[in-house]
Amino acid sequence: MEFPTPRPLLGEEAIAARVAELAARISADYAGAGELSLVGVLEGASRFLRDLSGRLTVPRRADFLSVAHYGDGAVPTGEVRLRRDLHGDIAGRHVLLVEDIVDTGATLGFVQRLLRARDPASLEICALLRKAKRRDPEPDVAYVGFEIADEWVVGYGLDYADRYRTLPYVGVIDPPG
Ligand code: IMP
Ligand code: MG
Repeated sequence: MEFPTPRPLLGEEAIAARVAELAARISADYAGAGELSLVGVLEGASRFLRDLSGRLTVPRRADFLSVAHYGDGAVPTGEVRLRRDLHGDIAGRHVLLVEDIVDTGATLGFVQRLLRARDPASLEICALLRKAKRRDPEPDVAYVGFEIADEWVVGYGLDYADRYRTLPYVGVIDPPG
């Protein structure tokens, strides 16, 4: 199998600048609200969460969960299940769900339902990327880094077949096969 070189879409500096803007907004919105629980969806959101958290000025802690999609590569079936749960309790806490990308919205819908059932004080979503496409229902994402075209993107945590995650920029590939 060949893994093509991505066409650069968002450079390191553009990402860093946008992450700083999002962090400033989030810090303002949650100022005085107590400790914020950042919940990252593995693996894709871990780098974004780390960089975002490093820029926040409010007290926060981070926890992660992992979900599995049925289907493979760039062809998800829309079915999602929990593969690894959070370590901590989120009841009564302000939760910010941190995702790498909103594609069909199936992952966010699943994780949102899971977390809501645990009675957080509030639950909002921050996604680095959102693809331009119709979604039903359209998830309500309070903080979006970049709106992008409906293409397969890799890098800055995002993968294709577990490749490209460690690229420092976001690029576009034509998924092979
Ligand atoms: P959704 O459930 O269809 O919204 O897809 C969300 C999940 O699929 C994301 O959390 C990513 O892990 C993965 N995903 C969707 N689109 C892309 C992409 O273009 N590149 C890499 N991963 C993607
Ligand atoms: Mg993901």
